[in-house]
Amino acid sequence: MVDILPISSFPSYINLLPSVQTCNITNLPENYFLKYYLYHALTWPQLSFVAVVRPKGGYGRNNRNNKTAFLPGEEYPKVVGYVLAKMEEEPSDGVAHGHITSLSVMRTHRRLGIAERLMRMSQRAMAESHRAHYVSLHVRMSNNAALRLYRDTLGFEVEKVESKYYADGEDAYAMRNDLKSMWIDWSEEEEKEKKDAENKNGDGVDGHADEGEAVGELGKSGEEKEKEKMIRVKVGRGLGVGDLVERNEAATSSR
Ligand SMILES: CC(C)(COP(=O)(O)OP(=O)(O)OC[C@H]1O[C@@H](n2cnc3c(N)ncnc32)[C@H](O)[C@@H]1OP(=O)(O)O)[C@@H](O)C(=O)NCCC(=O)NCCS
Repeated sequence: MVDILPISSFPSYINLLPSVQTCNITNLPENYFLKYYLYHALTWPQLSFVAVVRPKGGYGRNNRNNKTAFLPGEEYPKVVGYVLAKMEEEPSDGVAHGHITSLSVMRTHRRLGIAERLMRMSQRAMAESHRAHYVSLHVRMSNNAALRLYRDTLGFEVEKVESKYYADGEDAYAMRNDLKSMWIDWSEEEEKEKKDAENKNGDGVDGHADEGEAVGELGKSGEEKEKEKMIRVKVGRGLGVGDLVERNEAATSSR
């Protein structure tokens, strides 16, 4: 039985990342430092998934705290596939969209629908958690299996050809798949929030009597704010924190 698990939900499977990296190295020439996997898992925890062979007797069965730390001698789940995904951090078109950084399935477990499931779960998470408009990826022009998966099974379209995209000089198809149909419809909630905000603005007190005086900046008059601006404060050595400030370190290092 193969399970598809989110890498960094609770309980976390983040300790499987080294096995994910091994799976990547085994299947693809495009490899990454472990910290890059961690960066994905920590920055976009919803988007990456791992396919593991379910251990006999379940996960972390020896752990008294019932957590998914694996103890010495315990059967460690075998990673047979993964999808590493992210949100594009600075989209050149200004449109929020996801990106598939890497996908692979071990030879022993291919043609079982694992890559399709990994991809569908990641795409759904992009749409639901991040309102991604679309998901993009690159694929080698010679990679028929992946092309079939993306184009025929998942409905991706070729956006353009990127010449010599790969380190060995091979061209890539830049592909994308629209995700807007997967967005959750928040219109009812948004409408309600809008009405609540209108009520608040209408009588200024959200239908309730004002309780107490305004606090913070709101409660201060212009004159009071002006006075505050003009107060001088002692800093650094005068307050006895001299040994902590950078000035001391600079003095030492310049010797
Ligand atoms: C591409 C890859 C991820 C597919 O993984 P998989 O788990 O075997 O794929 P699935 O079982 O989910 O296949 C779904 C569909 O993709 C297509 N497909 C997958 N492998 C295929 C192959 N070898 N030949 C033709 N079509 C293939 C089929 O349409 C398949 O549906 P079907 O089995 O009902 O015909 C896997 O072959 C792999 O890891 N390859 C090496 C790494 C790689 O190329 N990664 C992609 C980089 S962009």
